[in-house]
Amino acid sequence: PVLVVDFGAQYAQLIARRVREANVYSELVPHSMSADEMLAKDPKAIILSGGPASVFEPGAPGIDKKVFEAGVPVLGICYGFQVMAYELGGTVDKAALGEYGKTETSIDDTEGILAGSPAEQTTWMSHGVAVEKAPEGFKVLAHTEGAPVAAMEDDSRKLYGVQWHPEVKHTPRGQELIETFLHKCAGLDRDWDASNIIEDQVKKIREEVGDAQVICGLSGGVDSAVAAALVHKAIGDQLTCVFVDHGLLRKGEAEQVKHDFVKATGIKLIAVDASEDFLTALKGVSEPERKRKIIGEKFIRTFEKAQRQVIEEAGKNGAEVKYLVQGTLYPDVVESGGGDGAANIKSHHNVGGLPKDIKFKLIEPLRTLFKDEVRAIGTKLGLPDDIVWRQPFPGPGLGIRIIGEITRERLDLLREADAIAREELSKAGLDRDIWQCPVVLLADVHSVGVQGDERTYGSPIVLRPVSSEDAMTADWSRVPYDVLATISTRITNECRGINRVVLDVTSKPPATIEWE
Ligand code: XMP
Repeated sequence: PVLVVDFGAQYAQLIARRVREANVYSELVPHSMSADEMLAKDPKAIILSGGPASVFEPGAPGIDKKVFEAGVPVLGICYGFQVMAYELGGTVDKAALGEYGKTETSIDDTEGILAGSPAEQTTWMSHGVAVEKAPEGFKVLAHTEGAPVAAMEDDSRKLYGVQWHPEVKHTPRGQELIETFLHKCAGLDRDWDASNIIEDQVKKIREEVGDAQVICGLSGGVDSAVAAALVHKAIGDQLTCVFVDHGLLRKGEAEQVKHDFVKATGIKLIAVDASEDFLTALKGVSEPERKRKIIGEKFIRTFEKAQRQVIEEAGKNGAEVKYLVQGTLYPDVVESGGGDGAANIKSHHNVGGLPKDIKFKLIEPLRTLFKDEVRAIGTKLGLPDDIVWRQPFPGPGLGIRIIGEITRERLDLLREADAIAREELSKAGLDRDIWQCPVVLLADVHSVGVQGDERTYGSPIVLRPVSSEDAMTADWSRVPYDVLATISTRITNECRGINRVVLDVTSKPPATIEWE
């Protein structure tokens, strides 16, 4: 494999993902793993990630020099690059000028790993420490105002380093650099794709589960559908899917999911109407994290009830159900603070929102992947486009799109507005252009309007169309004005109590996609 050594970066999984995009197999390992253990994995190349520490401070994570002496090609990125420079005798110090974000970078040598680069290019940086002098034997390949050594290489030892982040999309030639490293410098073939991930997971799931019964929480979204299809491929009829109607679904969604999913996969499905239960538990709650925790817990309790039903039905074989499949993706994990040292942005219902006393062992075959990779796997597994290309919809549903307390009345109102927006965006052919369009009800905000010569005092609806590649970052979508106008007119005409429609024009960051 290619080893990606994680120094506590926000982007370590993103590096692994870029390696997969280059059709090469990769594994993420912690920096605390010993050099011997790393080398025992027979790595074909090693990439050192960024991280928040400063190499020269006491306790800063480093790496055993053996890693650089084993003849394995190594690419250091940001902190990883500084570790390489520092361990091999270069000079690393506080930068005269910190560089954060887009940075003009001068390329001084376009022969090696930067072959084909224009002399000036934009890179994306995030550093307050810089390599002042490269270690002996290294050629300096690039510099910026704040980084005298912004890239370096010693081709004879197959050691390479860059100060910038080639793994983020904001570095336009980033993927090219990673591919040059993997294919040219390390000589690796393109021999890894979605089918390998499927084979790998199928084998792992079979080994783990044996002949036990398994349930899978199905939401109707891409992630859980792909997770279910993958587990079904591994263990067939031992799998039962559970679809929970928590009362926070969109218009017509429950019927559609039940129908489409069973038709497409033939997997056993239990549908549970738990709306009473969820809405009672959410009564009077308006704080977003509390909503998320309540919803996460209620999901698990509902699965536990379904577990009893499955045991009863399969009881004759003495079946036990101790596994729960979830379609958790990597962005859910990082945002819930699940990455090594990562901050909790919001508790995704299937990660940070889980109760502590959960009785299931979780199977999460997609936990290290990003949405577009999951879509590729879904297609490989034979799922139809209308499931694979469904726009994301969060597990907590409309519950986190009503800003304020959740009531049945507010849900009905939001459901209508959401249905109108979805219908008009589809009609305009924008389904694939936009990643998703949350429709948000600002339930406790009131503004004055005039309708039919009468004064109104109603709530606004927010439209939040975004474009994104993996939900980690997003931009607001430039939906044509006439489409927005139609949506606005229809919502204010058809949804009693809404007298204003507003458009959210914020990217992520600084905002998140959902409002809660
Ligand atoms: P944010 O709001 O964090 O959303 O920018 C990123 C993506 O994740 C979805 N989302 C969730 N999905 N459970 C889910 O299954 C959740 O608790 C959850 N919260 C946010 C959101 O719709 C967007 O696609």
